[in-house]
Amino acid sequence: MPDKFADRIAAYTERVNARLDATLPPASTIPTRLHEAMRYAVMNGGKRVRPLLVYAAGECLGVEADKLDAPCVAIELIHAFSLVHDDLPAMDDDDLRRGEPTVHIRYDEATAILAADALQPLAFSVLSRIEGVPAEATTRLVRLVADASGSTGMTGGQAIDLAAEGIALSKEALEHMYALKTGALIHASVTCAGLLREDLTDVQEHSLDAFGRAIGVAFQIKDDILDVEGETHVIGKKAGADERLRKATYPGLFGLERSRERCSELLKTALDHLEPFGRNAAPLAWLARFIVERGK
Ligand code: IPE
Ligand code: IPE
Ligand code: MG
Ligand code: MG
Ligand code: MG
Repeated sequence: MPDKFADRIAAYTERVNARLDATLPPASTIPTRLHEAMRYAVMNGGKRVRPLLVYAAGECLGVEADKLDAPCVAIELIHAFSLVHDDLPAMDDDDLRRGEPTVHIRYDEATAILAADALQPLAFSVLSRIEGVPAEATTRLVRLVADASGSTGMTGGQAIDLAAEGIALSKEALEHMYALKTGALIHASVTCAGLLREDLTDVQEHSLDAFGRAIGVAFQIKDDILDVEGETHVIGKKAGADERLRKATYPGLFGLERSRERCSELLKTALDHLEPFGRNAAPLAWLARFIVERGK
């Protein structure tokens, strides 16, 4: 069964969308404008790559999807919060996301800031209420997602990204920024299922850790390639936005060819690290390929 992951994507996507819908307060709850904006930020599409990675890692390790719904929802809520802030005028100043006006354009800046502010604690509330797992595992999950989101994870990476506009970072510094701003949440998505297995071996832990790191960086390089090569109506974001802001990106600093080469290299590294899992890793392998081959 694990080699048919592509056939299960629609079901997993529906599954996480239903859980997200049930988690977000109804738009009719006061303050309605805030709740509407939170729903708009989360429910307007999105590839749901991070939840798919969580479920795929679960399949790899034999962790039931029922136990993974809470981490999926939590990580996707944090991701949505990061996108709302990323698009604000003080950050990337973007007016299009997932083919629709960004939250601060559709609503207003203050509402966008507050909607993102509220998505973040909601993520931890969901995680703390995970059912059917020992309390220590819940604590480990909360810490994993908190660390991946904070100043030494996604938020720290976003700070480096903003400070690096117009600056020629070294390859190492650039990849460090990618590992934080994008890689940290992807890494957490890959590794969270392992925290629910008491008997995880060192080899399994190390392999998933290395796989998560490699695809996390590859994900952002591909995002930057799409910003250069993609078309606005396909990627759902304004193409060419990185060049306009003189962002430090892999294609901008090292060219498209080296960017593609680095993506392939990282894919190979990632796939090599799946070897100890044999056929059980087919879903993760499928997603790793999707990450570097996707068109949006
Ligand atoms: C976009 O992430 C932001 C980055 C971290 C590069 P995604 O490409 O996963 O965005 P959605 O959720 O599918 O819209
Ligand atoms: C964003 O990187 C990373 C986040 C943590 C949100 P980008 O700024 O390149 O993401 P997009 O292209 O706006 O989605
Ligand atoms: Mg950005
Ligand atoms: Mg951006
Ligand atoms: Mg981008």
